Amino acid sequence: MRKLCNPYNLSGKKLELITKFWKEYGRYYDADVRYNFRHHLLSAFREDDLPLLYLSIYSYLEIIPNRKDVYKWFLNYLKNTHKDFLEHDILEVGCGSVPALTKHIATNMLELGSKGTIKGIDENLIVSEIFGAELQKESFAYNTDISSADTIIGYAPCEATPIALRKACREKKELSIAVCECLHSDGSFFTTNYDKLLNHYYRLVKREMSSDFIFDINQVPKEYNMEFPILTLKRK
Ligand SMILES: C[S@@+](CC[C@H](N)C(=O)[O-])C[C@H]1O[C@@H](n2cnc3c(N)ncnc32)[C@H](O)[C@@H]1O
Repeated sequence: MRKLCNPYNLSGKKLELITKFWKEYGRYYDADVRYNFRHHLLSAFREDDLPLLYLSIYSYLEIIPNRKDVYKWFLNYLKNTHKDFLEHDILEVGCGSVPALTKHIATNMLELGSKGTIKGIDENLIVSEIFGAELQKESFAYNTDISSADTIIGYAPCEATPIALRKACREKKELSIAVCECLHSDGSFFTTNYDKLLNHYYRLVKREMSSDFIFDINQVPKEYNMEFPILTLKRK
């Protein structure tokens, strides 16, 4: 494997962590991603508008300041929104190949000594173990058993979004999902327009949500350069 380029002469702990990560996981990425990765992994370090790919790695390695870490912001949102969130049995859908949010939740639960659990599911997981969390490398589908979960969460989980929305409504689970701009079809609906996709999700929830739940829409703050709407379902 070729050496990681280091255009900013980044030194110390951060470089060590990135290099270790690259050695362990670099081989899992496609050739074109690997090429960009090698050239941008470190240069992207100085940029504000980081793609999720890099952001999730930096957040996972805890090498960006909290104020730039949208996963830490989202975790605070979840704690403020869902009562006793860290005591819940949580399922993160589409947690990513490098599941930063799952890891932060596990760390918070361990620190608190909570009785809650966190499981991350993604068909493209490359990280196989996180202390205090369960990871499941598979597709989240309509027949996935979610009976043990209290709450479903997701940060930009693409195709898993409509499945999670429908299952949470039908199986009476709390939910918070930050909805990405990717225009995926859920089998029953296809559009090339983001507003139409959001409308589809809103209508789906309104139609299927149980009357003992509240539906709320918030937004990821502007400063993170990802103004995703967050769909939240909570018990009344
Ligand atoms: C845009 S990425 C976001 C990943 C992660 N949440 C993050 O913020 O880095 C979307 C992820 O959703 C996963 N995904 C999409 N549909 C899925 C499904 N039905 N089951 C499991 N994972 C899914 C993809 O594999 C991908 O890792």
